[in-house]
Parts: sequence; structure tokens; C-alpha cells
Amino acid sequence: MIDLIHVTKRFGVATAVDDISLSVAQGELCVLVGTSGCGKSTTLRMINRLIEHSEGEIHIDGQQIRRFRQETLRRRMGYAIQSTGLFPHWTVARNIGLVPRLLKWPAARIQARVEELMALLGLSMEEFAHKYPHQLSGGQAQRVGVARALAADPDILLMDEPFGALDPITRESLQDELRELQARLHKTIVFVTHDMDEALRLADHLVVMHQGRIVQQGWPLELLREPADGFVESLFGGEDRGLKEAALLPVSQRMQPLGHDLPARERIGQQASLREALSVMLWRHAERLTVVDDDGQPVGELSLRRLVGARRDD
Ligand SMILES: Nc1ncnc2c1ncn2[C@@H]1O[C@H](COP(=O)(O)OP(=O)(O)OP(=O)(O)O)[C@@H](O)[C@H]1O
Ligand SMILES: [Mg+2]
Repeated sequence: MIDLIHVTKRFGVATAVDDISLSVAQGELCVLVGTSGCGKSTTLRMINRLIEHSEGEIHIDGQQIRRFRQETLRRRMGYAIQSTGLFPHWTVARNIGLVPRLLKWPAARIQARVEELMALLGLSMEEFAHKYPHQLSGGQAQRVGVARALAADPDILLMDEPFGALDPITRESLQDELRELQARLHKTIVFVTHDMDEALRLADHLVVMHQGRIVQQGWPLELLREPADGFVESLFGGEDRGLKEAALLPVSQRMQPLGHDLPARERIGQQASLREALSVMLWRHAERLTVVDDDGQPVGELSLRRLVGARRDD
């Protein structure tokens, strides 16, 4: 869906992005991580042509982006940023309707779309539609920013630290919402963050950048287990690596399937991560948990030995 082929960006003599190649498949959530100044935002902004690349080619659906009309890019790509970029003198509703208005949708259609998006992001019309950005909390403003990015139903979403300023609880709930939204609407998303836990929670495809270059990319577990160099390894947090891996693996992967009646024990959902299961074990002083499905029906058992990946169960 999105292809960057040997793309370079220079600002004067400085090279911000240095010969990167990257393909993002349709429906994939690709996360760019790396330290400050490594070229993440520049990469994102070259995709929607807020910044023109200096060398190489960028394709959308196999077509060079330079061939697309501005209006087409605007319709196909939503863009959300940390500072939200909301217009301070416009109401929430007007801010969300920005792109549809630029695309000259009829007023009734814009209104319907704004209502639909506010519902989707859990913002009540009565409470928020007529508020101004300064009357919103940071999390509400970021939701409005995301709603605005989705307004013209783009198939590509570019998100530059959209949850950066949020407390961990609001942030996690927005991360969950984004994953759900992506599963439901099949958007192709390029998401920039420098928070490794956020990257691991979200990414199907993880790209590590350093000093303008891509040092490694692939499936998150692959990078975690086989980091290409010391820099990638350090991003995965040394001693915390085991927990970061456990956060990526579901309970269902290590549980013993149900074979007999289980005694009453602490329960854990089969979709929960091994990290969550470990936390329950630590907190409850329990070495075994009953694994249940979405309806709360027992489907198996997870022992501490199985959780840590031992082959045999006692
Ligand atoms: N318009 C510009 N003119 C000159 N240099 C720029 C411009 N925009 C970015 N740069 C430089 O390009 C490099 C990459 O910047 P970029 O904003 O892409 O980094 P980043 O990875 O997004 O960092 P952060 O995590 O801090 O947001 C930096 O060294 C920056 O100073
Ligand atoms: Mg940036």
C-alpha cells in the first residue's frame, strides 16, 4: 500500500532521512520508533507530502505520490499529531469537519459524519460539539484530533505521537481503541512514537530508526528476540526484555488445554498476555490459574512452569 524506495531527505547540508526503504501492507499497523531527531516525523510527513523528499521514490498503491493531486492525498490520508493542531477559534464539530469541508461535501453529510465520529470516539455531541479546544482536557483534544484525521474516511492514517501527552491510563485506553478501530475498519496506519511499550502494544510491523537510517524492521517479537545491534537491544530495555516479551504473548499460547474438572482458582482470560498472567500470580501468590474464554467458561490451565516456557508441567 505504501512503499518508500531508497528515500532520502536533506535540509540544506544536513541529512534528516538517509536512504530508507520500507513497505507497509494494506491493513497493517506500522510503528516507527527511535530516539529524538532520528527522522520519524520527517518520514511521516514525506508520505503526505507536507515535506517533499529529496531522493528516491514514494508510492501509494504502486503510484508515485508526486502524481497524485493534493485533494486525493488529503482524502486518502488522515494525519494526527501530538499537539493535535486543532484550530483554537473553531468548535470541536467544526474542527472535525475540516477535511470534508475542504472536499466540499454537502453540509448535511458533514454533520452526519461528525456525529458518527464523535460517537465512535466516545465524545458526546451534547457535551462536546460546541466546545472550543481550550475547554477540553488533553485526552479529549487528542480524541478530537484522531476524529478529524478519520473524517474523510481515509484508507491511510498517519499518526505522529498522537497520544504523547496523555496519562498512562487514558493512553492505554486510546491504544486499545486504535487497535479495535483498525481491526474493524482495516485502515493502513503508520504510527510514530518513542515509547517502546506503546510500540510493542500496537505494532504489526516495527521499524527502528537511528540517525536517519532504518537499523531494523520486522515483526515485534523477531526484533525483541534477535536485535540487529546493541542499539535495538537497548531500546528493548535490557533486564525488562522478558516482561516485554511476555506482554506480546497470549495466555492461550502456553496454557494446558482443559482435560479434566478444574478446582476453583484465580482466573485469567485466554486473550490476556503472559505478563498479565504473571502479575496475577505474583499478586495472588498463585502458581496456577484457570484460563477462561470470552464467556468466562474454563478452557485450560496455566501453571507458572508453563508460563515461563518449560516443556513439561511439573
Ligand atoms: N524543516 C526543517 N529544517 C531543517 N532541519 C529539519 C527540519 N525538520 C527536521 N529537521 C531535522 O531533521 C532531523 C529529523 O527530525 P524529525 O523531526 O524527523 O525527528 P523525529 O525522529 O521526529 O524526532 P522527535 O522524536 O524529537 O520528534 C532532526 O535533526 C531535525 O533537526
Ligand atoms: Mg517527531
